[in-house]
Amino acid sequence: MDKLVIDGPSSLSGVVEISRAKNSVLKLLAACLMTSESVIIEAMPELQDVKTMLKLLKHLGAEVTTLPGTQNVKINCEKINQWKAHYELVKTMRASILVLGPLLGRFGQAEVSLPGGCAIGARPIDIHLKGLEKLGAKITLEAGYVRAEASELVGATIVLPFPSVGATENIMMAAVFAKGKTVIENAAKEPEISDLGNFLMKLFPELVIEGDGTSTLTIHGVDRKTTKVAQNVTYLPIGDRIEAATYLMAAVTTNSEVTLTGFYPKHISAVTHVLEEMGANLEIINDKDHPKIKTKKYLKPLKAVHVDTAPYPGFPTDAQAQLMAVMLSATGTSVVTEHIFENRFMHVPELERMGAKITLKGNAAVIEGPCQLKGAPVMCTDLRASAALVVAALNAEGKTDIQRVYHLDRGYENLEEKLSQLGCVIKRERA
Ligand code: EPZ
Repeated sequence: MDKLVIDGPSSLSGVVEISRAKNSVLKLLAACLMTSESVIIEAMPELQDVKTMLKLLKHLGAEVTTLPGTQNVKINCEKINQWKAHYELVKTMRASILVLGPLLGRFGQAEVSLPGGCAIGARPIDIHLKGLEKLGAKITLEAGYVRAEASELVGATIVLPFPSVGATENIMMAAVFAKGKTVIENAAKEPEISDLGNFLMKLFPELVIEGDGTSTLTIHGVDRKTTKVAQNVTYLPIGDRIEAATYLMAAVTTNSEVTLTGFYPKHISAVTHVLEEMGANLEIINDKDHPKIKTKKYLKPLKAVHVDTAPYPGFPTDAQAQLMAVMLSATGTSVVTEHIFENRFMHVPELERMGAKITLKGNAAVIEGPCQLKGAPVMCTDLRASAALVVAALNAEGKTDIQRVYHLDRGYENLEEKLSQLGCVIKRERA
């Protein structure tokens, strides 16, 4: 297993182009199952999770080709010849569960391995399944698989007990071919949901989805057999707001001057507000065509803050671990309270190996700063915890060996290239 060796402390400078959003692309790919026409997803990020989703689509019968000399991927799901997503694939990537809604909508049946838990929590899918049942699906659980069948899906009003991102997406995709109107109340509002809604309306020009960006989504279903299906759709997904937040925090914690492009700053306004409250000096350019964030040097030490994670537009749980690394360079006692997942502090023991002083009290972490971290061998445990170790290593004195880098490869495209271009001394070694 590869490891990353970072020689800190680092001072960064230059421009980093943020890749397309992993947490949007995975759903757009699942949605391709709904049309028999070819679709091109542009600037597909080269991530392990994307490779897994493409493998799953091919396993179901899709044709997948990367257009030569580009990262644009053409997907054709005309010849889907089976509706079962096997455990071997699903266990490596939970987002596979998002093929459930599309397969059910288009073929009236789907069988997907239960994704099981992961490092950060049990990750149940009860909200997904209850929503699909409300649309008329018959759901059975058997031998670790969830089987969904429906001769016809009928629109309904579905109130989510929690604004689950995945459940909102699965229900939204199934509702496209449901008869009549589906209203999802307490829907998730993450930008990736809007991206999926825009994509679906591009695939099916007669489809109307109302309430974009709000907690109430209304999907006016179309008739699968007669609706107009767009041909040669090409789609550029949104930039990855969590990757952007990660690089932003790397720049702020090292007091560097870096420009981040290729994403919408407004998608991480909760993050920029917290960093500015700490004393970061950010220039935020929300220009429609060339949005960017520039970090400028700040003169006074960063100040400690208290942050609670929350569904969008609150502070993203996916950026909580990385923020903790920034808090270690701030003066005072910071607190991070995690409200979304039950076990999302796996980075804490690893940060402590680097000299961090962090006390856990239930779902709250108390971080003492400032703390001069020392390089040390540390272990990746999950995607965002690993990102926190990278951010911390940039500020640590000496070498940090970050092991089990496959966790990072799931969600950060060309990480070492991007960081070394910014001036970080980093290399990947075969462990
Ligand atoms: C998506 O996961 C993201 N993954 C996660 O990013 C992100 O952390 C999460 O949304 C929250 O923003 C992808 O988009 C691929 P949820 P998802 O359903 O859809 C509970 C990363 O690092 N819940 O909003 O699984 C659940 O247990 C990943 O890129 C139920 O109880 O998140 C959790 O506590 C990690 N029942 C909470 O809701 C359900 O049926 C949020 O889950 C579904 C969820």
